[in-house]
Amino acid sequence: MKKLHFLPLFLAFLFSLNSLSAHEGMWLPHLLKQMEGDMQAMGMKMSAEDIYSVNSGSLKDAILHFGGGCTGSIISSSGLVLTNHHCGYGYIQSHSSLEHNYLRDGFWARTREEELANPGLFVTIIQRIEDVTDQALEGVAEGMPEAERQSRIDQNLNAYQKTISLKADEEVLFRPIFYGNQYIMIVTLTYTDIRLVGTPPESIGKFGSDTDNWVWPRHTGDFSLFRIYAGPDNRPAAYSEDNQPYTPVHYLPVSLDGVEEGDFTLVFGFPGSTQQYIPASGMSMVKDAVNPPRIAIRDTALQILDKGMRKDEAVRIQYASKYARVANYWKKWIGQNQGLERTNAVWKKVLAQKEFRDNVHGHPAYAELLPRLDSLYGVLTPYMVATQYYGEIVHRNIEIFTLARYMSTLLTRYQENGLEGYTAYRDRVVPAVSGFYKNYQVDLDRQVFAALMRMYAEEGNPDLTPEALHQQFGSGQSGMRTAALFSQSVLTDKDQLIALLEGDAEKAVEAFSRDSLVIWYDLLNRTYRDKVGGPMSGIEDEIDGQMRLYMAAQMDVVQGKKFFPEANSTLRVTFGKVEGYPRSDTTRYDHQTWLDGVIEKYIPGDYEFDVPERLRQLHATKDYGPYGVDGKMPVCFIGSNHTTGGNSGSPTIDAEGNLIGLNFDRVWEGTMSDLHFDPSICRNIMVDARYILFIVDKYADAGAIVQEMTLVHPKKN
Ligand code: ARG
Ligand code: GLU
Repeated sequence: MKKLHFLPLFLAFLFSLNSLSAHEGMWLPHLLKQMEGDMQAMGMKMSAEDIYSVNSGSLKDAILHFGGGCTGSIISSSGLVLTNHHCGYGYIQSHSSLEHNYLRDGFWARTREEELANPGLFVTIIQRIEDVTDQALEGVAEGMPEAERQSRIDQNLNAYQKTISLKADEEVLFRPIFYGNQYIMIVTLTYTDIRLVGTPPESIGKFGSDTDNWVWPRHTGDFSLFRIYAGPDNRPAAYSEDNQPYTPVHYLPVSLDGVEEGDFTLVFGFPGSTQQYIPASGMSMVKDAVNPPRIAIRDTALQILDKGMRKDEAVRIQYASKYARVANYWKKWIGQNQGLERTNAVWKKVLAQKEFRDNVHGHPAYAELLPRLDSLYGVLTPYMVATQYYGEIVHRNIEIFTLARYMSTLLTRYQENGLEGYTAYRDRVVPAVSGFYKNYQVDLDRQVFAALMRMYAEEGNPDLTPEALHQQFGSGQSGMRTAALFSQSVLTDKDQLIALLEGDAEKAVEAFSRDSLVIWYDLLNRTYRDKVGGPMSGIEDEIDGQMRLYMAAQMDVVQGKKFFPEANSTLRVTFGKVEGYPRSDTTRYDHQTWLDGVIEKYIPGDYEFDVPERLRQLHATKDYGPYGVDGKMPVCFIGSNHTTGGNSGSPTIDAEGNLIGLNFDRVWEGTMSDLHFDPSICRNIMVDARYILFIVDKYADAGAIVQEMTLVHPKKN
């Protein structure tokens, strides 16, 4: 009897856990009605319809998928797009040279004519999202073999697609959610004439660079501006001088009122991927088996690149984008493991699983799921580790293997389709080879090759890697071996390689099939495919099938909880509050940083912490225009919004639908939120909208761009 007294207490404890994690979630905008009450309770003054509506203009019409990987938002009636500097980086770099160093100096178009075209860049606006679960799963029976199930679903969706009426240029995507328990259809519109309007110099847009990346307190003005151009009818059109700025269905007004601790925030964008619902065994696998080798491999490669870049400015420009890309996730995984440790995330998951198990009476099949998944993750682990070595070494960090892969494919095309196959692929490879060499230093790559092949030989699982790897690159031979391979291979000599490709096909085929680096690539690739890729995909299929059941079981057993689907690069709403966070048990970080902090971090001439003279002047004279507050200039702020990679460039929106910030990062340990959102330490980092306006208007003196926007005072009115 006595026990019963604890029950209310226990429930209260559970309830408090629940309300603590109220900010968790990446919600599908067309299903937002279920969250409207929670959002309004947190201060939101909009309705779900204001955020997503098919019938009238809503916030969603101002949100776009930028270049497939980032998010952007429309902030003027003339199609002005706001995204991160790091999202525009590759494009800014491609317009940059030692003469026009836009990375170093920034770029601001003073007229529409000066805006710069970006071939290959596209933005996608979501027209509507619909549930198509019934259509997808018609005739699908539980217990069907996975392959049969998938082909049935594909057939169903193909057939369904034919019945959808689309406007010109609209496209349809289908995406599984909740591990294939449900399906959604997304109708999109993609614009391809996207021009660069403005970007601050790196010393603002990437201030703090990799040292400050994933770190709070942060002082980066990580933004850039683009513009969508459309054909005469405002519909998508290929680049043309005659194209006109796109007129959006909706654009975001920009708030001048800033943020205070506790303010409601909504982040709208395209989060890439998460693993919130995997069991504790899967989380342990990521933390203890997958992250350590990939961190170590990147660590080794990055040290080599860093040395090379610090020696030579031309090399730095060539490698800046690559380095940033590799360093970004390297650092993220380190922080993720720290966060998982610090919050005891695996243990919390084990507890939650216990609760699940305690509640499955009456569903004998559910009780089988976790043990089965645990054992599958056990079987998967060595293959996942092997995949990290292979992926990071062969496909990510050794650059010359990219060329080897092209030539290897060329040989396959020749074998399969003769001269015709060869020529068709060759015509694509030639420009790719030139592009490759534009940003390539063979000396650096040779060092990376030697160091990583040595790691591969010494640490790679001998059962899952070629014997020759261990024989030739183990026990101190890697440097010598590498030097020999690089001098024998034609891939290290651009002119010779291009000449071969442009000459006689037979001769080229002969040369490539004997090329030492192509042979190594083929060996590593083939061994991976046979020993790892093959068996692993069978295990993964089984995990997928079990995860689908486990997901459905969680949704069935944990009653009253609202579930959001894992991120999968579809449009999502996440909401929270402006909120500082505890650095340790005694110190707490404030939610806001200031220009004073930029000046504190200033290191003259340093490539990470230099500050442009003009910005220092503006600070010295406190010349902040209408953007400062009490003689101080806000720079960044943090909040408890559940975001992930892909949310870069997402607008942060206030209670009434105005832009207050620009998402670009998370706090370091908070990156654990990809696996488990812990409200105590998970925070996203945003550029303060006032800092963006200040940089454009006061720093760059590009007031015309600010004039295009609609500036508002929601708090003062
Ligand atoms: N961490 C942010 C994101 O994941 C910013 C990355 C770009 N900045 C950098 N220093 N690498 O994309
Ligand atoms: N910087 C990330 C991106 O490129 C967003 C930060 C994150 O992963 O939370 O999408």
